[in-house]
Amino acid sequence: MPSHWLLFVLIGGGNLFTRYSCAKPTTEPTTFPRFRFETDVLTTETLKKYRSKNAHLLAFNTSGPITASGGCKVFPGDAAWPSSDEWNALDDALGGALIKTVPLAAPCYREWEVYNAAKCEAIVANWTNPHTHMEDPTSVMWPVWEGLTCLPVDGTGNSSCTIGGYPTYAVNATTVAHIQLAINFARNSGLRIVIKNTGHDYLGKSSGAGALSIWTHNLKSIEYLPNFGRSSVKAIHAGAGVTSLEVSQIAYGHDASVVAGMCASVGFAGGYFTGGGLSPLSSLFGMAADHILAAGVVTADGQYVIASPESHPDLFWAIRGGGGSTWGVVTSVVVRLHPTIPLTTSAISFQTSANVSNETFWEGARSYFENIERFTSAGFYGFSNTRRLSSFYNNSDFSFALEPMLAPNTTIEAFNRVTKPFFDRLKELGIPYTNEQKFYESFHEGWIATWPDEHLVVTVPTITEGSRLFPRELFTNPEGIENSLQAIRTVSERGYDITGFALAPRNPFHVDNSVNPALRNALGHFSSGVVFAEHSTSEQMAATQAELMNNILDVWREVAPSEKMGGSYLNEANIMEPNWQDDFYGLNYPELLRIKRTYDPYSVFYATTGVGSEDWEVRSMEQGIRTQNGRLCRL
Ligand SMILES: Cc1cc2nc3c(=O)[nH]c(=O)nc-3n(C[C@H](O)[C@H](O)[C@H](O)COP(=O)(O)OP(=O)(O)OC[C@H]3O[C@@H](n4cnc5c(N)ncnc54)[C@H](O)[C@@H]3O)c2cc1C
Ligand SMILES: *[C@@H]1O[C@H](CO)[C@@H](O)[C@H](O)[C@H]1NC(C)=O
Ligand SMILES: *[C@@H]1O[C@H](CO)[C@@H](O)[C@H](O)[C@H]1NC(C)=O
Ligand SMILES: *[C@@H]1O[C@H](CO)[C@@H](O)[C@H](O)[C@H]1NC(C)=O
Ligand SMILES: *[C@@H]1O[C@H](CO)[C@@H](O)[C@H](O)[C@H]1NC(C)=O
Ligand SMILES: *[C@@H]1O[C@H](CO)[C@@H](O)[C@H](O)[C@H]1NC(C)=O
Ligand SMILES: *[C@@H]1O[C@H](CO)[C@@H](O)[C@H](O)[C@H]1NC(C)=O
Ligand SMILES: *[C@@H]1O[C@H](CO)[C@@H](O)[C@H](O)[C@H]1NC(C)=O
Ligand SMILES: *[C@@H]1O[C@H](CO)[C@@H](O)[C@H](O)[C@H]1NC(C)=O
Repeated sequence: MPSHWLLFVLIGGGNLFTRYSCAKPTTEPTTFPRFRFETDVLTTETLKKYRSKNAHLLAFNTSGPITASGGCKVFPGDAAWPSSDEWNALDDALGGALIKTVPLAAPCYREWEVYNAAKCEAIVANWTNPHTHMEDPTSVMWPVWEGLTCLPVDGTGNSSCTIGGYPTYAVNATTVAHIQLAINFARNSGLRIVIKNTGHDYLGKSSGAGALSIWTHNLKSIEYLPNFGRSSVKAIHAGAGVTSLEVSQIAYGHDASVVAGMCASVGFAGGYFTGGGLSPLSSLFGMAADHILAAGVVTADGQYVIASPESHPDLFWAIRGGGGSTWGVVTSVVVRLHPTIPLTTSAISFQTSANVSNETFWEGARSYFENIERFTSAGFYGFSNTRRLSSFYNNSDFSFALEPMLAPNTTIEAFNRVTKPFFDRLKELGIPYTNEQKFYESFHEGWIATWPDEHLVVTVPTITEGSRLFPRELFTNPEGIENSLQAIRTVSERGYDITGFALAPRNPFHVDNSVNPALRNALGHFSSGVVFAEHSTSEQMAATQAELMNNILDVWREVAPSEKMGGSYLNEANIMEPNWQDDFYGLNYPELLRIKRTYDPYSVFYATTGVGSEDWEVRSMEQGIRTQNGRLCRL
């Protein structure tokens, strides 16, 4: 290939020329396109510039496992807890990026120096906005798993504010060297490490008492790659702090679409893809993890490595489905794109009324279940809510609503063809329904119009949630359909609202990664939750948690046990799921555990329900529920 062609492609920005295959190397290995923040890398050479007497704490793996007494990670108050000189050495090396934790709601409390009534008011007003927590170094969206130790004052005035399960310090990471220094310091000092990106984690895994946290939110670099790798695909290189909205916007700007989260604010390159990553495009394209072509990762020994098919292939396999906070800190990923496709959506709903009896309503729901395979085979994604005593529907006993059904790459005409058997059945049953359709030229536009970022609310802080993956077999024969319908009906009749996802995240591109096989075989993903009463005591919280387990999840586990390819999606599961190894990882667990022990023999990284976490426990302050508010100890 003449070199001026290559030059031409570069000057032309690539985009214009991608239909010519002039810049398609066939033999060179994939090169990882480092961001500027990924060129600031710590080496044994650069370490020499830290001359303080504490410099050894910043070095690469100089020590085996350091633990405080009882095999615990070193905790504030322990003799081995780093001195202020030692913390200062870290902060100096970081160029001042170390932040001592002040809980987000501390301005609401007089005992904190930052007490400020006006600030408190703004925090209270914005508490359910995800961005409020995303922009804070340590705040998380489901603080119940942190220990509820510093909520904004709720009017009763009898609460207090302590650090609880929030980490003690956070590193505002803006370079790879920051991440390496934090890992080395924590490993050499025996500290617990936490990684926080957006704080969306339903299981509280982005918090942890006494920890040093690595905060990735400001790693916002993002670029479009018109010809990535050997097969010269369109891709995006995204830093660890990039959100689903940000990655989708760039894709849209280049006439492409990306498999990303349903909610705009969910991180893309942190917990989301490492857990697999479900998307409204999953029935068509599979999981987000299936689209990751390479990643930068800082591993437990402090080294910055590239994980790709050629480089650390076992780590590359593990990070695509094997969970967050387990393998290392991902610094950025390269994600493959798809062409822009159109989108049809429809808000579909029906409910019980004077004319629709309970039995008739559930026959309508059965028809939906009977058609889930048909819908997902056509690439549809059904986001449904089954509500009991729905005030939205004027207190009908039950309501069912697709809010909405998404049909990517589908015209309204094709949508009507696919949904006809379902609506015909509703008519036959005499069930009035809505079917409010919209068509969008591009998936991105339709997605943003459906779930605008600014409308998203997180129902912090007082809910415990759980979910179950229902395998294909529960929707493809009459007996299976009867069983799955009864499992949903039983829980609904007990008074719980249920969010359901009809999706088929199979493996259309035959990617070999560690995504839970139960996800591949699922057609339904159902979730529900129980609200903790305000000011619950430990006993009351334990009772609420038991209610979730006994009244909801037990029913679903019975119809979708892991032996029959049931399971639970690790990113949207309950932290106390008892058989989490089987449910979250399935048959991949033994291989994941082997890789964990290779890359992180001393458990520098830990996440409750993460691979290898059975060797550890958080001795939480709370009784009966598993929070991050306590010391992390080896069992
Ligand atoms: C409102 C809402 C909507 C959601 N929608 C979807 C959806 O459509 N599809 C879906 O699949 N999931 C969805 N989820 C679940 C989501 O995937 C998980 O909450 C996920 O863990 C979020 O990852 P994060 O990095 O944004 O969050 P965080 O809470 O910051 O991190 C989550 C986990 O990943 C670890 N982690 C974060 N960054 C890194 C990193 N750079 N390297 C290694 N580990 C890291 C953390 O330590 C933690 O264990 C949703 C959650 C919420 C609350
Ligand atoms: C660094 O870690 C590797 C792998 O755990 C180990 O084999 C090696 O001995 C360690 N080096 C030092 C100096 O501790
Ligand atoms: C909520 O936060 C936004 C910025 O994100 C700010 O403009 C607004 O004033 C806050 N709301 C209140 C009531 O303070
Ligand atoms: C807090 O206030 C509520 C409501 O006034 C009350 O029921 C509860 O007992 C109080 N809790 C404590 C610990 O004082
Ligand atoms: C984090 O670092 C960035 C870049 O230096 C800076 O702009 C930002 O203010 C810092 N955030 C906090 C909370 O310190
Ligand atoms: C119920 O059915 C009757 C008879 O078909 C009809 O007149 C009435 O409008 C229906 N009511 C509702 C709320 O749909
Ligand atoms: C509830 O009832 C009111 C008043 O009859 C009506 O205007 C409204 O449309 C009803 N809502 C639904 C969702 O049926
Ligand atoms: C989208 O639909 C078009 C036209 O039916 C078809 O050619 C194309 O293959 C579809 N794309 C995907 C990704 O299914
Ligand atoms: C419908 O089901 C609800 C909940 O189980 C029950 O309260 C109600 O009485 C039932 N209605 C009829 C007409 O049976």
